[in-house]
Amino acid sequence: MRHFLTLQDFSKEEILEMIDLAFEIKNDLQNGKRKHELNGQTLGMIFEKSSTRTRVSFETGMYQLGGHALFLSSKDIQLGRGEPMKDTARVISRMVDMVMIRTFSQSGLEEFAQYSRVPVINGLTDSYHPVQLMADYMTMIECKKAVNPVVAYIGDGNNMAHSWLMLASKLGFELRIATPKGYEVDSAILKDALTFATQSNAKITITNDPKEAVKNADVVTTDTWISMGQEGEKEQRVKDFEGFIVDDTLMKLADQDALFLHCLPAYRGYEVSEEVFEAHADEIFSEAENRLHAQKGIMVWLDKQRG
Ligand code: CP
Ligand code: NVA
Repeated sequence: MRHFLTLQDFSKEEILEMIDLAFEIKNDLQNGKRKHELNGQTLGMIFEKSSTRTRVSFETGMYQLGGHALFLSSKDIQLGRGEPMKDTARVISRMVDMVMIRTFSQSGLEEFAQYSRVPVINGLTDSYHPVQLMADYMTMIECKKAVNPVVAYIGDGNNMAHSWLMLASKLGFELRIATPKGYEVDSAILKDALTFATQSNAKITITNDPKEAVKNADVVTTDTWISMGQEGEKEQRVKDFEGFIVDDTLMKLADQDALFLHCLPAYRGYEVSEEVFEAHADEIFSEAENRLHAQKGIMVWLDKQRG
């Protein structure tokens, strides 16, 4: 049995296998074929933070695969009133076939997985958002930006930046991360990524200069400056991130056909300008749609790994 907790746990071949499966399932859906590969199965979805895309994609994806999904908000279940993570895991995993969890700490997610009898999927933690990266990579493939791409991530050294580090270092492409001083990526995660990069020939650059990062990039991406749980830091962060907005001036330094990706939700006027967002809306909403197909690929792949 395998879990999907971080891309670090997968080989390049395994990541590409899940992506291939996701494309196959997407293609089938578009041709009106719905294979009920998870017929009769139940997915428990635990949310300790808000969500639009993750909830809708997993819930719809599970239904389309012939299964059923349970939305379990921590506001409603006993986890939110102090029932330990490990007890929640031992109860829920005796009743459902797979669990997706969106929580705060990666260690909390790992604890859940350790006590779970069924595969556990990371639906976002403070450290990583790996399911998002699967959809992002699908969008890069569809937009023909997946062959030796140069990707520039501009903004906070957060869960999205860490997941880009893992994807680039596993698949072997060039990633440049530009953050303001004091908002750099986690040093232990960077160290791991650099180790994988030596094996995959990925090139990782870390800078505090967004202009240097986007120069001739094929893909430019960003994320909110204020992640869930950081609302109290908004005023300070908005000051500290000055100069890090992805606007036309910055995009002009990238390749002229550069793709712009955003995991959403987007805050116009902060991490991205209205003009850049709307000019790239087709790509951004294809990326959002790919969450549905990616989730299905991941769930079917995990199901196949059970002994
Ligand atoms: N990108 C993403 O995970 O969106 P939600 O927070 O709406 O799920
Ligand atoms: N970094 C953001 C991603 C939201 C999908 C957050 O954690 O809130």
